[in-house]
Amino acid sequence: MTFFETVASMLDAQVPALAADLGMSVPELHSRMATHLDTMAKEWRAQRTPSIAYEDPICRLAYIFGHVPINANLFYHALVEPYVDLLAQGLFSSLGESIRSHAEKVGRLRLCAFGGGPGTELIALSKYLSKNPISRAHFDLEFLLLDEVREWAESWEAMKEAIYDNFSLDAPRPFSISGLVLPFDMTDLAQYSTMNQVFRRDLYVFNHVVSEVFDPAKLERLANVVAVLRQKAAANASFVFLDRNDDQTRTAVAGILGVAGLTQVHESKVGGSMDGDEQKEVLAEHIAGIGRRPRVQWRVGPNGNRAAFFVLAH
Ligand SMILES: C[S@@+](CC[C@H](N)C(=O)[O-])C[C@H]1O[C@@H](n2cnc3c(N)ncnc32)[C@H](O)[C@@H]1O
Repeated sequence: MTFFETVASMLDAQVPALAADLGMSVPELHSRMATHLDTMAKEWRAQRTPSIAYEDPICRLAYIFGHVPINANLFYHALVEPYVDLLAQGLFSSLGESIRSHAEKVGRLRLCAFGGGPGTELIALSKYLSKNPISRAHFDLEFLLLDEVREWAESWEAMKEAIYDNFSLDAPRPFSISGLVLPFDMTDLAQYSTMNQVFRRDLYVFNHVVSEVFDPAKLERLANVVAVLRQKAAANASFVFLDRNDDQTRTAVAGILGVAGLTQVHESKVGGSMDGDEQKEVLAEHIAGIGRRPRVQWRVGPNGNRAAFFVLAH
C-alpha cells in the first residue's frame, strides 16, 4: 500500500458521494476543495491560531487530499529511521522496531494520536505494519484520537475502510483496526480525569498539532497535560512530536518536553521529497479537478533549513 493509493481510494468513493449528498457536481466540489486548500495555506502562514473549517466535510476532504500523505510519510520516517545512538546503547534500532517487538509480545498496539482525526497516523502505521508484518495470528491496532473536531470520526472510519480495501480478500486481515475519537480540546486537563484509557497507551503521537496551538496560555496547558501523561503512562511509553521546522514550533515542543520531564532520545530534520514509492499520479483526476497538487516535498531553504522535524522522547 502507499499513502497516495489509500487516499485515492478514499477520495474516489467520498468525493462523488459527498457531491451527491450536497446536491452539487463533482467539479463544483473539487473547486470548493481548492478554496479550502488556499485558505488553509493562508491560515498556517498567519502567525496566529489558524482558523480552519475542519467541521466542513469539503474542508476535511481537501485536507486529506493535500496534506495527509506527506504528514503520514513524516511519521513513517520516524518509524523506520535507524536510531544509531540508541542501538549503540543496546536499546532498539528504530521506533518501529521497538513498538513491533512490543506488539509481538502482547498482540496489540495502543496509540494516542493528538489531533489525529484525519487518520494520518493510522495510514502511516498501517503501511509500516504491512511492510513489517506481525507474526501473531491476531493483532489489534487500537487508536485513541484526541481531536476537538468530532466530525473527523467519519473521515477516520472512511480511511480505515480504504486501508482494509488494500488487504487481500482471500486471506485473514493482517491486523484489525479500532479507533475512538474523544472530541475535546486536548489542552483542557479537566477533560482527562475520567479518561483512564488515555494513560494506557504505548505511543503518543503529536503530528502537526503543536503548530496549531499559538496561544501561550494554551501551550502551557498542553505542556501540563503531557506532564500528567508522562507521570501516569507506562515508563516505556514513547512520545513523538512531528511538525514544521520553524523556530516557534521547535520552541513550543522543547517547552513541552521540559515541563513534562520528558527526555529527548532522538531528533531528525526532514527535507526533500516523499519516499520514491509514493506517486501522487494516482490522484490525477482529483489533481486535475481541484487544480492544485498535494504536498510532496519538505522544502529545504536557502540556508539548508529543512521544512519538518521529529523528536522522540521518553
Ligand atoms: C494540521 S491537523 C494535523 C492532523 C494530523 N495529525 C496530520 O498530521 O495530518 C491538526 C489537527 O489538530 C486538531 N486540533 C488542533 N487544536 C486542537 C486542540 N486544542 N484540541 C484537539 N484537537 C486539536 C485539529 O482539529 C486537526 O485535526
